[in-house]
Amino acid sequence: MLTPVADPKSETAGAQVMVTDRAGNLHAVGFSEGRSLMETIRDSGIGDIAALCGGTCSCATCHVFIADGWTERVGPPVQDELDLLETSEFFSDESRLSCQVVLTAELDGLPVTIAPED
Ligand code: FES
Repeated sequence: MLTPVADPKSETAGAQVMVTDRAGNLHAVGFSEGRSLMETIRDSGIGDIAALCGGTCSCATCHVFIADGWTERVGPPVQDELDLLETSEFFSDESRLSCQVVLTAELDGLPVTIAPED
């Protein structure tokens, strides 16, 4: 079932990311350009993103999987992010730290799945 969730700071009309939480529920979450994917998911009320470091690329509790076909548009992780991601037992080619993904209009509709907790 699709649950629409409003980003309280959303200013980009109609732009959404499609987030599958750890229970398998799909949420359409509105976003503002320039905000991170982590902030967008966390502030939507989906409770699966701990983001313990607040987005400074040092905790990996914001791990998500980018859907097939979107990884090029999102772009690859930089080395520091990749080093942290590789410490996860759930690391895959689709892995990103959501605090390091800045949302733009080109990412409207982006499907992401929150990674299992390490
Ligand atoms: S919030 Fe800590 S690495 Fe992303």
